[in-house]
Formats: sequence, structure tokens, C-alpha cells
Amino acid sequence: MWGGRFAEGPSAIMREINASIPFDKALWRQDITASKAHVAMLGAQGIVSAEDAATITTGLDRVAAEYEAHGVPENWDLEDIHMTTESRLAELIGPVAGRLHTARSRNDQVATDFRLWVREAMEQADAGLHALQVALVTRADEHADSIMPGFTHLQTAQPVTLGHHLMAYYEMAARDRSRFADARARMNQSPLGAAALAGTGFPIDRHATAAALGFDAPTRNSLDSVSDRDFALDYLMAAAQTALHLSRLAEEFIIWASQPFGFVRLPDSLSTGSSIMPQKKNPDAAELVRGHAGRIVGCLTSLMITMKGLPLAYSKDMQDDKPPVFEAAGLLTLCIAAMTGMVEATTFRTDRMRAAAELGYATATDLADWLVRQAGIPFREAHHITGSAVKLAESRGIALDQLPLADLQAIDARVDERVYAALSVEASVAARASYGGTAPEQVKARVAEARVALGLE
Ligand code: ARG
Repeated sequence: MWGGRFAEGPSAIMREINASIPFDKALWRQDITASKAHVAMLGAQGIVSAEDAATITTGLDRVAAEYEAHGVPENWDLEDIHMTTESRLAELIGPVAGRLHTARSRNDQVATDFRLWVREAMEQADAGLHALQVALVTRADEHADSIMPGFTHLQTAQPVTLGHHLMAYYEMAARDRSRFADARARMNQSPLGAAALAGTGFPIDRHATAAALGFDAPTRNSLDSVSDRDFALDYLMAAAQTALHLSRLAEEFIIWASQPFGFVRLPDSLSTGSSIMPQKKNPDAAELVRGHAGRIVGCLTSLMITMKGLPLAYSKDMQDDKPPVFEAAGLLTLCIAAMTGMVEATTFRTDRMRAAAELGYATATDLADWLVRQAGIPFREAHHITGSAVKLAESRGIALDQLPLADLQAIDARVDERVYAALSVEASVAARASYGGTAPEQVKARVAEARVALGLE
């Protein structure tokens, strides 16, 4: 492509280090689409003849059909997807192929192709997260009043409902989707026509190519257009945040599936056995979701470090933008699908959850709250009285509501028999009916709103 300037060809090492075709061939559809938009505009503007534009368009369709049928050939001498396509186009239609690159550079070409690819990845993440939300809401609806222990520090804290716990992840997924939506809106401008870095002297119509490619407008600064990759970083940041959420959900399933907890039976389809221990059923899919989160964060770090300190405009370092984005996108799609399947098909052992909620004095706060409300005791004092009651119950190995009234009254005379009604786990969750609280009626209200938001109603 630049033989005119050079006396010698590249060394084998130069060819190898320079070649991006092994990975950027993934951009072939976007490359063809953007080239077709470009050549249609060149024809409409009279920069190439209508006949040449038509020949090039037909040729591009033929190249696309070949890629579709046989894959993209990987020839390092052709460096990247842009040169590979142009070279094949020239073989098919002859020298007229050389007119396609008028008023364009690979710098704005790759920026355009990659934006189109990342935009689709954002849409795919959104669709995947929507499916995960549907699964969460469906299971939350089923379990709006199933009681389980709620934890802080992974120590039993207060009873909650399983539906409430699952809806927490629905909220995280909603914010993750909004991050992808924000990023998509921000990035949806076309860099095509920025050319190498300074724009072009040809009378191009950037608004036309922007519209043809589904962008809201052309970008406003040609240097920025070819040299920034913040749209890819926005994608990776949203992907990393999503992966962190998925990893936490995966961790819950891992803990819940362990024998001491026994809160869930994971679906066989998302578990593995052991080659030596016949009794084992391992939560490998969940563990890999937890593990992959680390890799996705690594992809974000990788591109951040690539971009750090690059002067304007394009530098070849930026060719390294693609592998981390491709890797993260593949992993993210898989992780979302795995967690969706797990939420859909896990058996929740609500009897075990309910029994665990009875342990660990989960309703101690309810006793303290009762002392405040019914006996007018300041909360700090009520906390102290309750602490003494827990200590006594613990020393006898019984639950709070198994303490005889006389013993409770010995700790504080203001206690009366009505307290027992407040100490059951059912009463505990029902009492937490503040907006966004764990009470079944609150969970059902949030589920109903979520079903509308998801388009299920
Ligand atoms: N393969 C290159 C990349 O992905 C295309 C842009 C090359 N531009 C250049 N001036 N060498 O970044």
C-alpha cells in the first residue's frame, strides 16, 4: 500500500508485530458497512462517478459474501481488516477499487468500525441484562415472602425475604443497563471523514455518512475523532462494573450451595462433578463468573494503560485497543448468560433458609424496637436490655422467644407478654415495611413496578 516510499519490504518481525488481522478480522461486517456508506456518499457528492460507486458497492457485497462463507483470510502482509478487504476488492473489480479510499484514512476507518462494533456490544449487554432482570424478578415474585437470614459481615443480622435479596441484584442490573445506555448515547457520533487527522479537502458529506450508519451526528473535531477511545473505555467500565455485580451474585450462590448453608440446589446443567469424589456437585459456573470478573477488570486496566500519555493524534499503540474489548465482551456475554440460567433454574431450599433465619438471634433488633415503641425506652437502653436477653438465651442454648416472661422481666420489668408477637421471623420481616424494606408487601410492590419497567405487563 505504500511501496512508492520504501526501498525494502518489512522484516518478518515487522510484519508480525504490525499485523492486527488475527484479531481485527472480527470487525469485517462493520468495515464493509462503513465502506458502503462512504462510497455511497462519494458517489452522491460526485467525488467518484455513480458507475464506479456502484461497481465498488457490488464488489464489497461480494467480499462480504466470501467472508461469510469462508471466513476472513489471514495474510500478515495485508496487516489488518481494512487492507485485507481493499486488496480482495481490487482482485475482484480491478483498479477502480483504489477509489474507495478517497477522502478517507484507516485512522477514521478503524475509529468508525470499532465504534459500530462497540455500539453493538453495548446493545448486547443491555439485552443480556434485561433477561437476567426478568429471571430475578420472576424468582423474587415466587419468593416475596420466603424468609431467610439477612447478613452483615456474613453474620446473621435480621431476617429478610429471599425476594428482597434477589431484587437487590435487579437494582444493580438496572444501574448497569443505564451505564451502557449512557455510554451508547455519548458515543453515538460518527468519526468517518476525519480522515488521517485533519479532515479532508474533498467535498464530503459527513452528515450523510453519519446518518447512514445510525449515528446521531458527525464528531466535531477530527483530531479527537481518530485519537480517542473513550467510547471503548466507557464500554469496559460499564462491563467491569457489571462483572463485579455478577461476581457478587455468583459468590452468593457458591456460599448458598455449600453443605453447611444448603440454601440452594444448583441446576445440574450449570454444575460439574468431581473425577475422584463421587458425591460432589461443584458450582464451577459460578466460580468462573467470579473469576472472569477479574479478567474483565484486567481488560479495562489494559486499555486504560494503552491510552495513557498518547499525544494526539493516532499512534499505533491504539491498535491494541481491540483485544481487551473483544475479550471482555465475550466473557461478559457468557457471565450474564450463566447467571441468568442459574437464577432461573436454582432450587431454593426455603425450609433450610427459614430454619437458618431462626438461628443467630436474628430478631434481637425487633425486641429492642418493641421496647422503644411499647415501653417508651430510649433505643440505646433498649439495645442494652436486649443484649442481656440474648446473652441469657445463648447461655441456655435457646431462642429469644423461648425465654420465659419471668426471665425477660427480671432483666427489665417493663417487658410484658405482648413482646412474643414481635419476636417471630414473620413478624420481623412484616414489620420492615418502610419504602424499599424487606416486608413481603414492599417486595411485591417493587416486583410489580419492575415487571412494568421490563415490559412484562
Ligand atoms: N490496524 C490499525 C488499527 O487498528 C488501523 C489504523 C492504522 N493506521 C495507521 N496510520 N497505521 O489501529
